[in-house]
Amino acid sequence: MSIESLVKKEIRGPVRISPTRLRLKMPPDVISLAAGDPNFLLPEYIADAVYKAIREGYTHYCFGGDPELKEAIARYYKKFGYEADPMKQVIITAGGSQGIFQAYATILNPGDEVIAFDPSYGGGRSPLRYFGAKLVFSPMKKDAEGYFRIDIEALKEKITEKTKALYMENPGNPTGIVYTKEELEAIADLAKDHNFIVISDEIYTEFIWGGKKHIPIISLPDMEDRTIVIMAMTKMFAWAGMRTGWIISGPNLTSYINRVPTGITGVPWPIQKAAIVALNGPWDFVKGQAAEYEERIDYCVKRLNEMPNIKCVKPEGAFYLFPDISATGLKSAEFCAKLFEQEKLRIVPGSAYGPAVGEGHVRIALVRPLSTQTMPSWFKVEPDKTLEAAMDRLERFTKSLAK
Ligand SMILES: Cc1ncc(COP(=O)(O)O)c(C=O)c1O
Repeated sequence: MSIESLVKKEIRGPVRISPTRLRLKMPPDVISLAAGDPNFLLPEYIADAVYKAIREGYTHYCFGGDPELKEAIARYYKKFGYEADPMKQVIITAGGSQGIFQAYATILNPGDEVIAFDPSYGGGRSPLRYFGAKLVFSPMKKDAEGYFRIDIEALKEKITEKTKALYMENPGNPTGIVYTKEELEAIADLAKDHNFIVISDEIYTEFIWGGKKHIPIISLPDMEDRTIVIMAMTKMFAWAGMRTGWIISGPNLTSYINRVPTGITGVPWPIQKAAIVALNGPWDFVKGQAAEYEERIDYCVKRLNEMPNIKCVKPEGAFYLFPDISATGLKSAEFCAKLFEQEKLRIVPGSAYGPAVGEGHVRIALVRPLSTQTMPSWFKVEPDKTLEAAMDRLERFTKSLAK
């Protein structure tokens, strides 16, 4: 008997190791704009807070999460117009990924269906198989300018009596869209009419461009107890490796989410203490990142639109570009593989975000600086590894395709 027969059937089969996991061993000539882990170095006052907490003895169990952190989170979220009760509505998680997993662990039985948009963030749906649930893609459509928008009629068609939840990121990864009030209201109406939960992944709310405003779907009428908000320090404070995030939900739903046996909170207490310091301000570090991201976006969108057969809109939020490459005649996976082979530049095929609508695009994470940018980076950026250099490589590649 193979060991595999003892393993949960949903996770059997061949292992696929993403090159991202091997990133630290990447050859020196590679530029990776694949994973969304930015280059920014955490400011010293936050790093010091970790050490101070250890020195003060916060190295013990922290059952249920630090109440002061829950208060800081609720205070932070209030800026979006929604007031959560810190003790009844906030759960500390080890990053957005644990939040997503715990949300599904609360609601899914085998055979349930979860709708995600095509295109959408893969990590928002990868846990489904583990719970024996089925993923249903709902295609987005592009507007006249080239922005992805939800197609509410298409979404309606995907709803069945087995639909348990809709997963959405706002702002979107990879689409870069920020949902309008009308779009959120249309989704909320469907959730109420058809009795499903909205998992609202709001991990990029600090990075919104062009005067758009983040509206939390949980703040819409009667949505409190059918919304699970996912957030994290990951992108906000360039904190990916310190694994800190949270869930905000209605008081009833939170009491169920809390019953998922995740053990004691997964975030080491000294890191929680540092998160309190970070969330209590000042916010210069976050504002500085936002300013650098927007410069990167403006530079790269311009460069991309000058390349043959590439079209790219300026995102409304987040720090990804998702240009349309369909005019090159290549499938997105082929485009990325050839680009890597010829130019040692790593980006992600759109098919990873959605098989139908995501295809024909590639995702570029703007996680490296322009040569003119000055915020401290956690790794040395050589002059031939800047964003300008990455765009030069991409330009050479697209020109070689157009020949
Ligand atoms: C939309 C979205 N949600 C969640 C995550 C995962 O976040 P974390 O690293 O906090 O688990 C990511 C990471 O890229 C993301 O883009």
